[in-house]
Amino acid sequence: MGSESLVTKRLDGKVALITGGASGLGECSARLFLKHGAKVLIADIQDKLGNSLCEELGTENFSYVHCDVTCESDVENAVNLAVSKYGKLDIMFNNAGLIGDGEVRVTDASTDNFKRVFDINVLGGFLGAKYAAKVMVPAKKGCILFSSSISSKISIGLPHAYKASKHGVVGLTKSLAVELGEHGIRVNCISPHATVTPLFQTTLGLFDKKKGEEMIAASAVLKGTALEPEDFAHAALYLASDEAKFISGVNVPVDGGYNLSNQSWKMGFASLFG
Ligand SMILES: NC(=O)c1ccc[n+]([C@@H]2O[C@H](COP(=O)([O-])OP(=O)(O)OC[C@H]3O[C@@H](n4cnc5c(N)ncnc54)[C@H](O)[C@@H]3O)[C@@H](O)[C@H]2O)c1
Repeated sequence: MGSESLVTKRLDGKVALITGGASGLGECSARLFLKHGAKVLIADIQDKLGNSLCEELGTENFSYVHCDVTCESDVENAVNLAVSKYGKLDIMFNNAGLIGDGEVRVTDASTDNFKRVFDINVLGGFLGAKYAAKVMVPAKKGCILFSSSISSKISIGLPHAYKASKHGVVGLTKSLAVELGEHGIRVNCISPHATVTPLFQTTLGLFDKKKGEEMIAASAVLKGTALEPEDFAHAALYLASDEAKFISGVNVPVDGGYNLSNQSWKMGFASLFG
């Protein structure tokens, strides 16, 4: 094997299962993982999108399975399918998620919505980790990834259910990293800032991609560049690869330093001095 293929195929021979892989950040990660030599099974509830992605990519190394991450038998089936189709499971990427309804006031927030958001964002990830671990523990290796959010680090104007659920994902990451480390399994999560995807667009009702990017750029700490789904996917690629072989239990921000800033301090000064 030449040095070029070592550099370009960073997931060569690995098998990855990505939930929420039919759209947005999961789709982008799935494409990048495939490009880097992984066999990829995406699991989602959007069958049309999932199947058309398979058609577009046209390779046996990429497939789709219908899987509602809140349904235990669906998740078990998706993990088993990855193993029966591709022989093993190296990377379980629990990425499926949603914001839920947009109510930010606790007094008006719906309890049903709170439960639904936790079911998908936290329980869904727990089930993914549970069934992946059943395969990875005997193999004595594996990598489990979660999609958390910048809202696990700072409080931005999003509903409590979403923010709390993304803190839950970080808790799960740390807890699992300690237990599963004993079996050679690494567990990490990624916390991106806002990125223009269908989730972002439907939440804000802002469907003009350029306007969305401008809005994000206006509040960015890191100027002169913009956060794109590929930046998230590259963080996932690194964490999933053997390059990150001793990295476990961390919540990696992909936000250009945004979580370190306090915009309200700046606003306070502006209100005094203009
Ligand atoms: N886009 C952002 O600004 C942003 C920022 C921070 C974190 N995130 C997180 O990144 C992850 C991906 O979000 P995205 O922006 O790509 O959104 P997206 O809506 O484009 O993709 C999410 C995918 O999850 C799938 N999904 C939803 N419920 C599911 C279920 N019950 N079972 C299986 N699949 C289900 C959807 O069908 C969709 O394909 C989410 O966990 C989200 O919270 C996104």
